[in-house]
Amino acid sequence: MTKPKRTKKDTNKKLIKYNLPESSTDFYSIKESSDSDNYQKRPFTVYYKNPEQSVRLLLGDCIEILNQARENSVDMIFADPPYFLSSGSFTCQNGKMVSVKKGDWDLSNGTKKNFDFHVEWIKACRRVLKPNGTIWISGTYHSIYQCGFALEVNKFHFLNDIAWFKPNASPNLSCRFFTASHETLLWARKEKKAKHTFNYDSMKNGNWHGDQLKKPGLQMRSVWSINTPKPTEKTFGKHPTQKPLDLLKRIVLASTNKGDLILDPFAGSSTTGLAAYRYGRNFVGIDTEKQYLDLSVKRFEELEKNMENKFSNSIPAVVSAWTDKYFHQSAFDKPLKIPNNNVINFLSKFRPLKPVKLFRGIHKLNGENYTEIESWTYDRKIAEKYAESEENGKVEEATFSSDNILLDTTLLDSMEKKYLGYDYKIDDKEVLIFKKTIL
Ligand SMILES: C[S@@+](CC[C@H](N)C(=O)[O-])C[C@H]1O[C@@H](n2cnc3c(N)ncnc32)[C@H](O)[C@@H]1O
Repeated sequence: MTKPKRTKKDTNKKLIKYNLPESSTDFYSIKESSDSDNYQKRPFTVYYKNPEQSVRLLLGDCIEILNQARENSVDMIFADPPYFLSSGSFTCQNGKMVSVKKGDWDLSNGTKKNFDFHVEWIKACRRVLKPNGTIWISGTYHSIYQCGFALEVNKFHFLNDIAWFKPNASPNLSCRFFTASHETLLWARKEKKAKHTFNYDSMKNGNWHGDQLKKPGLQMRSVWSINTPKPTEKTFGKHPTQKPLDLLKRIVLASTNKGDLILDPFAGSSTTGLAAYRYGRNFVGIDTEKQYLDLSVKRFEELEKNMENKFSNSIPAVVSAWTDKYFHQSAFDKPLKIPNNNVINFLSKFRPLKPVKLFRGIHKLNGENYTEIESWTYDRKIAEKYAESEENGKVEEATFSSDNILLDTTLLDSMEKKYLGYDYKIDDKEVLIFKKTIL
């Protein structure tokens, strides 16, 4: 199959008008216009919509679709465009030699045409992004410099370039140069003066224990250590350039809030969409390849089933909304103090009856934080680890009565932890304490 060539005529095509729905969540479920002058079939198929209408997968070319979609309607874009590195050569994967051809969509059209493509899709993304919106682009050295320049051409303003270090990257077979073990993620905002979303405290104080470079309680830096996708992320087959869920989880939690609309113009197996759905964001994913959207649908259906089966519906929305903010956007967010009584009453079932002896690692940084809720642990060693992460850190020890305890996470089972937005794989033996007795 030969790759369709993009012509200048395609990209200059007159924009078609549609009756766009008012709600930005319905961004792409557009109806054809009844206005006969402008009537034209929409350039895509809505391939999948989840029952809650928070996820949409569109089959089609992202530039064509985005050029006709609603302006200023997306909060964040994550894009993992083709690297254009497919060739006849070989690489090593899990100890086996495999072809470097990922698909026709990844074949290079030459440096100039590849760059023109990056300029075009980024321009189309800029149009649909809200003024305070941000865009992430991931890639290797094969593509990321072109994407970076194309962002500048389109007047984006860089916020960061993240080095995603893969501790388990495949070895280099030729032994003639260094083993490639990182990808770069560019993060940029549309308007220099607009206030973009960055959940600073959630990044600093969240649970990122899988990352050997992130020290608890210290600022999140621009080098992230995250393994390539786990085998469980490939249960239904794999995409040749599938991103790990842990990477997209961090991006989604760093740069969006619940209810935001996230767009992935090169969705592939929809890793971005799964992270968006898991953390209560809306998602639109686009891909030209039916096979990848089929894989995405299977992944979404499994996640939906798991969330329905395993998460207790008895947890009220007000509780999950507060805990989601607490655990991911941090207790240290200034406006977020004591939860309301509904949340306190609900969490009271996860409170021990007897007084408990607890430990807390403190140092200058977390000592200065303003918060009415503190995190303590049953495990002195964990507290020591936190204390050691900073000079002059020390361990505090205290006994608390049940009245001061908001939540003892050791009383939650893994599904309750997950539903409440807590990282269910982490066991810090954590107890959340009200500094004042308010109960
Ligand atoms: C690098 S992969 C993205 C992988 C994805 N991040 C994941 O985790 O599975 C790029 C994807 O873009 C799709 N693609 C290539 N050109 C496209 C276009 N013009 N419009 C929409 N999708 C396109 C390819 O089919 C491929 O699935």
